[in-house]
Amino acid sequence: MPAEQQAAQPSPHMLRVYKDDKKGATAFFRNRPFLNTVLKLLEKESDMPSAFFHACSIGAEPFSFVAMAKMLMLDVSVEATDIEPAFIEVAKEGIYPNAVLKGMLPSEKYWFNAKRGGKTQIKDELRRKVKFQPASSLIEPLLKEYDAVFAMNVLTYLSPEEQTLAIVNLAKASRKYLCVTAFHPDQIRSDMEFAGFEPVMTNQEEIHNAWGDRVREGGAERGTPGYSWIVPPYNTTAPDYDWRYCAVFARKS
Ligand SMILES: C[S@@+](CC[C@H](N)C(=O)[O-])C[C@H]1O[C@@H](n2cnc3c(N)ncnc32)[C@H](O)[C@@H]1O
Repeated sequence: MPAEQQAAQPSPHMLRVYKDDKKGATAFFRNRPFLNTVLKLLEKESDMPSAFFHACSIGAEPFSFVAMAKMLMLDVSVEATDIEPAFIEVAKEGIYPNAVLKGMLPSEKYWFNAKRGGKTQIKDELRRKVKFQPASSLIEPLLKEYDAVFAMNVLTYLSPEEQTLAIVNLAKASRKYLCVTAFHPDQIRSDMEFAGFEPVMTNQEEIHNAWGDRVREGGAERGTPGYSWIVPPYNTTAPDYDWRYCAVFARKS
């Protein structure tokens, strides 16, 4: 997407949800170039590609994926889960504050119905397309295979050793694409190479810079909690830049 077109898009409205000590910040259409890129890749793979969203929080991410797929006239089969059962219950209802609509284009707002009390609900047509599975951790193996597996903005919650294990298990469940962001960046190359995946380079810079709230000049200092979360703008002189600024990885053929 050209820069001027991207600038004209509304910024996603972040939903900050909490359950006890668990945080589940998410947004609808959080990274449009990212979702669009994965859908275009999947379109080439199958008439009805399958996807699994781990760490889906309250559902904004899988619902955005299905909405964008429908706008591309692509039928998809989608499952999702999170470690926190309360977030999955919210996702199943698909009811959100009206504020989420402020971050959307008219074509995106189409997928919501007005509810009483300042709320809006995902249309049944989308709600039925996402099968929410019982809560589980992404460290545990998945039981099926999918064309694409997603674990977005969650690896930062794990230790570096747990990230290696999670990537091995997510990779086993992915026939073609493995999508991750907010990972421990210094080891993402070795974790992905070990799992047999390589970066997709089509529009990596556009996707990276579209993380908006996470991209800040200078990034965060190594060794601090924000190191995998707050990232610097795309920089081809950084070591392993094609791995550390990547969100879409493909199984090596
Ligand atoms: C920052 S939110 C990201 C939500 C969504 N993926 C996105 O990018 O908008 C992180 C989510 O990861 C979930 N989570 C944390 N640890 C997890 C684990 N070990 N396995 C699965 N989900 C986990 C949290 O409950 C939370 O919903």
